[in-house]
Amino acid sequence: IKKVGVLTSGGDSPGMNAAIRSVVRTCAYHNIECVGIYRGYQGMIEGDFIEMGARSVHNIINKGGTILKSARSKEFRTPEGRKKAFDELTKVGVDALVIIGGDGSFTGAEIFNQEYGFPVMGIPGTIDNDIYGTSHTLGYDTALNTVVECIDKIRDTASSHNRLFFVEVMGRDAGHIALNAGIGGGAEEILIPEAELGLERLLESLQKSKATGKSSSIVVIAEGDKIGKNVFELKDFVEANLPEYDIRVSVLGHMQRGGAPSCYDRVLASRLGVKAVESLIEGKSNFMVGMLNDEVTLTPLLQAIKGESVIDRELLRVSEIMSI
Ligand code: F6P
Repeated sequence: IKKVGVLTSGGDSPGMNAAIRSVVRTCAYHNIECVGIYRGYQGMIEGDFIEMGARSVHNIINKGGTILKSARSKEFRTPEGRKKAFDELTKVGVDALVIIGGDGSFTGAEIFNQEYGFPVMGIPGTIDNDIYGTSHTLGYDTALNTVVECIDKIRDTASSHNRLFFVEVMGRDAGHIALNAGIGGGAEEILIPEAELGLERLLESLQKSKATGKSSSIVVIAEGDKIGKNVFELKDFVEANLPEYDIRVSVLGHMQRGGAPSCYDRVLASRLGVKAVESLIEGKSNFMVGMLNDEVTLTPLLQAIKGESVIDRELLRVSEIMSI
């Protein structure tokens, strides 16, 4: 390969810049050219490119977001869109791609590879940590720390007023953030899409905690939880059934996606970027680079897309014991 194109796609996450930096610098190290593609697949279709060298990625390892911007492209889902993208890449001599994003972004890469035999490598970037084939996605560790910091602050005001707080965290389909930040933040209950707690059990648990002398409580809810009520409806429901509770809701929202990446995410990004480029140089294609047992690994892209990233059930038990 002679020229690698790198892009970030889907929801941004802290550590994406560190991964861009790693890809660009690994290319420079191996005397390969590198092109940054703006706005994900949409920028690829529009030929929105920038030549990048070792110096063009200085001072970004510590920055949240993505200097290449991100987008979700509808046009790339069409054969015509992908043809335009292929033509634009060919025009500038890009002959391999590194895609930093989630499973939707990988699906685009996989189809593009099938249609044009274009070498592609994926780097998992999403705060949700919902990708098979890696213990951590870029941004997950940072998001956990952000959420725990917020819960700590909420705890201060919750305990001052003897209140119950429902804290909604991100995780459209996955409870990794809720479960881990919930345990780290000392939550009373954690509601995630992968495990149905049930409304009755929630009421019972809250009743019990009042009876055992708890004056304030925090319940963490993943936005994709399947309890059948959104966080505000849940507040109304619990208030109606347990009038002794004074309840507030805090939806953390997109603040969870921003901020300087943690050291873990920076190191992860640096390691995955090196592996992605060096694997392309070795002639490999259609893999996602990931981290398993602190080893950088390759998982076939299709497997990463189709596989399920399961939560650790033992954590549910730990949470239950901790909230006695
Ligand atoms: O990055 C993944 C995620 O954080 C999900 O948990 C959330 O539902 C979604 O992004 C929201 O993203 P957007 O506002 O960009 O659609």
